Amino acid sequence: MASVGRYSDDEAAALYDVLNRWGPSDDFYLRLVMDAGSVLDVGCGTGALLHRAREDGHAGRLCGVDPGRASLNVAQRRRSDVEWMAATAAQMTFDGEFDIAVMTGHAFQVLVTDDELRASLAAIRRALVDGGRFAFETRNPLARAWESWPETAIEAVDPSGRHVRVTYDVESVAGELVTFTETTRDAHGAPLRVDRATLRFLDADGLGRHLAHAGFHVEAQYGGWSREPFDPTSPEILTIARVDRRP
Ligand SMILES: C[S@@+](CC[C@H](N)C(=O)[O-])C[C@H]1O[C@@H](n2cnc3c(N)ncnc32)[C@H](O)[C@@H]1O
Repeated sequence: MASVGRYSDDEAAALYDVLNRWGPSDDFYLRLVMDAGSVLDVGCGTGALLHRAREDGHAGRLCGVDPGRASLNVAQRRRSDVEWMAATAAQMTFDGEFDIAVMTGHAFQVLVTDDELRASLAAIRRALVDGGRFAFETRNPLARAWESWPETAIEAVDPSGRHVRVTYDVESVAGELVTFTETTRDAHGAPLRVDRATLRFLDADGLGRHLAHAGFHVEAQYGGWSREPFDPTSPEILTIARVDRRP
């Protein structure tokens, strides 16, 4: 995500947790995490999921990986019993170490090119034990979520007490790629920061193909956080993939 403005990366990372309070998606992943002995959170952001897992009594290995330094600084406020690493998914070199890997908060959609996606899935596959699982969600392209983003405006008070307003504008939709900006303004409407990002919207078949190529099979796919069955109108594609048995 490229950004310009006078609201720093640290301020934006602190605001992230205000804008993304604990919700049903976190409960969905927490259940999977608590059931696994060792957990890799890829694109962990500010680390809320692993913090909660430890607070709730997870006794095994918890490791969060993210290339965003400012987010990782927030995550590292808890560092004695959770591991944190600054890296992209593709840069990870773990080998057969985790029972489950997760990518939450639509982090999977930042993997935009085929090369990045393949390298990331290969590294995640390598990080898992035989029979390990990879759980993540992507927005269903058929639900065209980006069409409602320009109507979304979020008012919030950041951790320093500043009132901010966050809005979204879609710049382009090209095949599976949606490029948009997120603008953070002060209470008077003056822009503080503009972040620009591209997300990839893969459909269920496309996901299945990429996962199969990386040595996973889809074990379960849901359309919502209460494990509703996935159908073409579902807003989300929640995928739990399992490492293929070696022949
Ligand atoms: C929308 S945030 C989600 C953060 C967190 N998982 C959550 O649920 O709140 C997406 C995260 O993906 C991270 N990210 C960006 N590129 C990445 C990559 N190539 N590999 C892994 N993570 C990446 C970003 O730094 C960011 O923290």
